[in-house]
Amino acid sequence: MYPFFWDFRYEFIPMCYDHFDFGRNSVANFATVFVTRNLVAFAQILVAFAQKKHIHHAVLLETVAAVPGMVGGMLLHTKSLRRFEQSGGWIKALLEEAENERMHLMTFMDVYEPKWHERALVFAVQGVFFNAYFLAYLASPKLAHRITGYLEEEAVNSYTEFLNDLEKGVMEDVPAPAIAIDYWCLPKNSTLKDVVRVIRADEAHHRDLNHYASDIQCQGHELKEYPAPIGYH
Ligand SMILES: [Fe+2]
Ligand SMILES: [Fe+2]
Repeated sequence: MYPFFWDFRYEFIPMCYDHFDFGRNSVANFATVFVTRNLVAFAQILVAFAQKKHIHHAVLLETVAAVPGMVGGMLLHTKSLRRFEQSGGWIKALLEEAENERMHLMTFMDVYEPKWHERALVFAVQGVFFNAYFLAYLASPKLAHRITGYLEEEAVNSYTEFLNDLEKGVMEDVPAPAIAIDYWCLPKNSTLKDVVRVIRADEAHHRDLNHYASDIQCQGHELKEYPAPIGYH
């Protein structure tokens, strides 16, 4: 059904199906599989573009990963104002996620300077992705959170590969950037390996938070009915 390059990550795609819970709505199931496959394929194109260098990949991924939390938080914020109702902490949770993702990016900026063509790519991607995600969240928040859950899963996989290469010595382990030591309250002698570990834990938290948000809505409830997991970061 799909061109071969959509099936590049065999160990990842099957895991996605475990989270599908749209009941008999086969259109929603198809849409989720389709969007997820395309987004993951896109993430892989970014990797290829970055010549599989982990820090390039992390930088490009983080510029995208920081968008969903801000868009979702903004839309829940305006909904709260419009309807004169509480959000159950979900506005704060999503804005915390966006800020945390931006700090991942700022951390990598200390050890990597993006090239002009990477900046151009990020500029174009942000223009498309911000608007597409905004529309997706308006149309179906549960689909939007599910997509973000899968993107975060991709981030966990990427940082695991990054960490493996650091542990095997394929990549040089350098001292942790000062901004990371401050932000995560790491010991002063921490290295890039420690930074990648805490970032990967953040991504796992984002993955769980977004799948949880989607599950709540898939079961016919509103987010505000279930307190958001805030204060992790
Ligand atoms: Fe991140
Ligand atoms: Fe994340």
